[in-house]
Amino acid sequence: MNRRHFLHMSSGLVTAALTGTILPDTAQAAVSTPWTPQMKPPMGNGEEFIQWAQKNRGESAEYLRKRWERYQAVVSNKDVLDERNKTAFLMAPREHFVLPRNLPRAYEHAFLDIGYGVTISGPHIVSRMTTSIDVQPGDKILEIGTGSGYQSAYLSYLTDQVFTIEIIQPLAERTRGIYDQLIGEGYSEFKAIQSRHADGYYGWEEAGPFDKIIVTCGIDHIPPPLLKQLKVGGIMVIPVGPPGAQRVLKVVKEEGSDGVVRATRSDIYGGRIVPFVPFTKLEGGTIKGTHNQ
Ligand SMILES: C[S@@+](CC[C@H](N)C(=O)[O-])C[C@H]1O[C@@H](n2cnc3c(N)ncnc32)[C@H](O)[C@@H]1O
Repeated sequence: MNRRHFLHMSSGLVTAALTGTILPDTAQAAVSTPWTPQMKPPMGNGEEFIQWAQKNRGESAEYLRKRWERYQAVVSNKDVLDERNKTAFLMAPREHFVLPRNLPRAYEHAFLDIGYGVTISGPHIVSRMTTSIDVQPGDKILEIGTGSGYQSAYLSYLTDQVFTIEIIQPLAERTRGIYDQLIGEGYSEFKAIQSRHADGYYGWEEAGPFDKIIVTCGIDHIPPPLLKQLKVGGIMVIPVGPPGAQRVLKVVKEEGSDGVVRATRSDIYGGRIVPFVPFTKLEGGTIKGTHNQ
């Protein structure tokens, strides 16, 4: 098993939770060819993709094969539509963002437990939600709900400005540790990700306004601070509805010819209910309930 799986920081050393091995945090780069937006993995043939990624990214054939199989499923399900999102899916190493016990399931359709009572969203939802916000190079993106870090890792193949907020402090720190370890191993694309521990309901005002916002926890309304921090012409994707029964809405903030700013909504799953982890609330440094009204 790969020693890079699921790492956490401990007093200047990185402890591999999987093996118990202690590694210096200046681990040797394993990725031989750094990411650039011009990089194009082979998309027409699984064996060619696996060989390419083994050679250029130092990744394991076992996970590359599963990534390729899931890639074919997300393409045939129309969760990814354009070449840039297809590339992002093929590049993002999901195996580094799941718990060690879930490694064999890293590329399954389902969401998976990541500890602290929350989950890593399934690969189909991540790719459909990301495709729906049409990320352009240089776009400033805000994610609410860092969780495992996979969603922001995927975004880093689409733009070099990703901001992500997580409300569970030890999870925010654990995920930051994973990014930093992977950056040390040559995944320089994750330098695009700025992360913080906070209540994402209030957005990240100093970093905004944002071209796109992606919310990965469910709430019964659109948080006004997030809508305010979205640029005119910007797009937000957000699961909205009662607990455990949200619909995933694409919200476009537009200015009409009358100068009035409006938010138009559409459902990226055509009305299907998709349950999400709740959008919780921070009060005096402690998580208390949710932001539902
Ligand atoms: C479905 S999970 C994680 C999905 C994540 N994007 C990923 O790729 O793993 C949703 C996350 O939202 C976080 N969350 C819930 N309420 C939040 C809030 N008010 N601010 C920031 N994060 C929040 C949860 O703690 C959880 O980690």
